[in-house]
Amino acid sequence: MLEVSHVEMRFGQKKVLRGVTLTLRQGVYGLLGPNGSGKTTLMRCIAGVYHPAAGTIRTPERIGYLPQRFGMFKQLTVYETMAYFAALKQIPARAQRNEIMECLEQVHLADRAKDRMGALSGGMVRRVGIAQALLGHPELILADEPTAGLDPEERLRFKNVISNLRGGPTVVLSTHIVEDVESNCDHIVLLYGGTVLTEGTADDLRARAAGKVYSVPADKRCLLQQPYHLLREEAETGTLRVLSNLPQPGNLAAPTVEDGYMLYIRGRT
Ligand SMILES: Nc1ncnc2c1ncn2[C@@H]1O[C@H](COP(=O)(O)OP(=O)(O)O)[C@@H](O)[C@H]1O
Ligand SMILES: [Mg+2]
Repeated sequence: MLEVSHVEMRFGQKKVLRGVTLTLRQGVYGLLGPNGSGKTTLMRCIAGVYHPAAGTIRTPERIGYLPQRFGMFKQLTVYETMAYFAALKQIPARAQRNEIMECLEQVHLADRAKDRMGALSGGMVRRVGIAQALLGHPELILADEPTAGLDPEERLRFKNVISNLRGGPTVVLSTHIVEDVESNCDHIVLLYGGTVLTEGTADDLRARAAGKVYSVPADKRCLLQQPYHLLREEAETGTLRVLSNLPQPGNLAAPTVEDGYMLYIRGRT
């Protein structure tokens, strides 16, 4: 369990976290928000890299952390990189080998153990990053933008790694991509401007936008009533997807998680 209570963080005059309060239990949580919303800063606070200016954080003892930028020594092999982290995590020497290979297997990199880090693709380096986060049976896993730079096949593989963790640790992954939380997470925490706007399931977010999303024929654009927010222009069907609290010319559309997200981010139009 992870408890974050009234956490504030500033850099100079700039308030980056403005009283974040969260209780996370078992399961996979998606920390969703646009760039600059404070995701990395919050992760660093939880991982103990930063000390918040105010508030408290209670974490379990064993934390696995994949930073947003996971760089490593290019000369080391994959195995040596893992051994380095195993040593940092004080995993007893006799247990290291098994555990390293187990974690590499989880990300399908066991056959790359002897390759140098410098010879791996970007996606593979991220996977080593995930593997090191899994070392030491963490009760809490923090992954900051874990799918950034992964190709579709690697994304799918990552999704499988995450589903295999279900029922085990608390997993928090940050992303600015709605699809990522939709496909990977049981719970979504929406962070914006350093505060939590809402917390719930994908269905909760969808439900928020129910009755507010319209599909409007493009030729009725001039009949739209302000205020509204244009989500998308769908050229193939000649329609506009519009978010609004007011009735609009066109049909109500089935809301998506993205619609719910936009409703929060773009204000309550
Ligand atoms: N070390 C730092 N010094 C000054 N400002 C920072 C620092 N780290 C982050 N920020 C600022 O804090 C805000 C949140 O950044 P960050 O936590 O990286 O957001 P996210 O991960 O959601 O993109 C941004 O406006 C960013 O410019
Ligand atoms: Mg970030």
